[in-house]
Amino acid sequence: MQHVQEKMVQVAGIRKTFGRRVVLRDVSFEFSTGKIVGLVGPNGAGKTTIMKILLGLTPTAAGDVRISGQPVSVNTHQVVTCQVGALIERPAIYPFLSGWQHLQLTTASTVQMDWVVKALQMTAYIHRPANRYSLGMKQKLGIAMALVTRPRLVILDEPMNGLDPQSVKQLRDLLVQLAHEGTTFLISSHILSELAKIIDQVILIDQGRVLLQQTMTQLHQSARAFLVIHTAANQRACQLLQSAGYSVTLREDQLSLPASLALTPLLKIVLDAGIQVLKVSQQREDLETVLLRLLANGRE
Ligand SMILES: Nc1ncnc2c1ncn2[C@@H]1O[C@H](COP(=O)(O)OP(=O)(O)OP(=O)(O)O)[C@@H](O)[C@H]1O
Ligand SMILES: [Mg+2]
Repeated sequence: MQHVQEKMVQVAGIRKTFGRRVVLRDVSFEFSTGKIVGLVGPNGAGKTTIMKILLGLTPTAAGDVRISGQPVSVNTHQVVTCQVGALIERPAIYPFLSGWQHLQLTTASTVQMDWVVKALQMTAYIHRPANRYSLGMKQKLGIAMALVTRPRLVILDEPMNGLDPQSVKQLRDLLVQLAHEGTTFLISSHILSELAKIIDQVILIDQGRVLLQQTMTQLHQSARAFLVIHTAANQRACQLLQSAGYSVTLREDQLSLPASLALTPLLKIVLDAGIQVLKVSQQREDLETVLLRLLANGRE
């Protein structure tokens, strides 16, 4: 019987080298069934390499990889063949095959093929030769091939690449729906604002190491709050507050201050100078800002 909290992916102490270069050191993380996990980090951090290792596509120098409790390596990847769908970097397109024929390479089920074509809205071109597809159409075909067999674990490397806003939204909705039905996702993306809308957890990689693995709830708690004030004369208000000893910054035509400050004395300074206050609000750092801050701290 399947337990809800079953560990879908367990990675422990992975080391990966290319020649003399160490590109992954002591990488460990795990996550449970039904989660959408974001794998993020700067270019060259090691995200694609981690995904390839999870798929048994590239050897490791040390460490243990398990999917559904079963070991994965370049020699043992039965669990990958049966339970995992993936799109790594770019989809492999066979020039003379149609999109539909690409899907037939993956499954014999027309029901599943019809489902995925409809879900990703590819009906209009699915029977056309795939080498005539646009960038986004090819990308969707790659995603369709990863999803069509309804695998338990889906690994998507930069899936939003080249997709228009409408397609990004459709993909988001589809992934969330599949996760509710029990599919587990590991998704890398540089579009953090998009990723933030769907992920349950984030794994931050930098220079081949795991900087952090946190749930979105934990990340939200570490997001700093700040006070945003918009006045009719921001520059002057900023100078006034600075000379009164406030740590205030002028950003994108608004004043930004620590959220812990008492509002009344602060506003009084501005109002007493005859400056009109247009808007006062509290804001929180978004995922991008938090992650960039954590990256900078991690490198100190
Ligand atoms: N086949 C290879 N031979 C040598 N070095 C490689 C190879 N593949 C990747 N690397 C190196 O491994 C490191 C991690 O690369 P990887 O592709 O995993 O990064 P990434 O996090 O996916 O980056 P991006 O965000 O740009 O996709 C990089 O320093 C890269 O140069
Ligand atoms: Mg990559």
